[in-house]
Amino acid sequence: MLTPKDITEKKAKGEKISMITSYDFAFAQMAEAAGIDQILVGDSLANTMLGYKTTRAVGMEEMLIFVGAVCRGAPNTHVVADMPYLSDKDPQTAYDNARRFLDLGAASIKLEGTPEGVLEFLRSHDVPVCAHLGLLPQTAENFKQKGKTVEEARAIEDAARFIDSLGCFEVVLEHIPEELGTKITREVSAATIGIGGGRFTDGQVLVMHDALGMHLGKNPPFAKKFVDMFELGVKGFKKYIDSVNHPQ
Ligand code: KIV
Repeated sequence: MLTPKDITEKKAKGEKISMITSYDFAFAQMAEAAGIDQILVGDSLANTMLGYKTTRAVGMEEMLIFVGAVCRGAPNTHVVADMPYLSDKDPQTAYDNARRFLDLGAASIKLEGTPEGVLEFLRSHDVPVCAHLGLLPQTAENFKQKGKTVEEARAIEDAARFIDSLGCFEVVLEHIPEELGTKITREVSAATIGIGGGRFTDGQVLVMHDALGMHLGKNPPFAKKFVDMFELGVKGFKKYIDSVNHPQ
């Protein structure tokens, strides 16, 4: 399993880092068998697994069930547990919740933005943190690209320097211009993991349901579909129904 140190060393050597979301035992096994570097149990499971419109719909109790399942399915892979909405509302609450994830077997936690005093507290207690900057789905008013204006780009860059100074080993950069993703990647020691952050971040992350074509909806513009599992699944179900209707 890659440790946070292994991940920053990969960056230093110019090696790319692959991350995918997974939420359950079976897909975690599949991702580990494929040799993925890191599995993110994202709060996007609110949308992909539970059918809610917003990631704010899930809390710690739901996340713990999914993080536990993924850790059991991929015991040799670095699992990043996503802090759900309000689970990081103050430093002590964030620490207590992060500990629950780490005690389950997660290797690190991820949280959105730079909530007051939280990252400082987590890092001073040696919690391995993957930060998340750019588009922040828990609090975003819309899903448009962030960092397009000079002010917005500067704020994201400043935040990236800040999380780096605290020793966060990694940062997800979501839906920002490629030039900004590239600039931050050069400026920080933390490994940058892009999702719509351009081609030159240290690694990439995708939501599994987008990458494997597991839903009927449209992918975001930056998310490539690598297989069509929805179609494959429907075909499989049809064959099964047929076998029930026409027993051999
Ligand atoms: O929740 C999630 O899946 C995420 C990714 C989009 C990075 O935060």
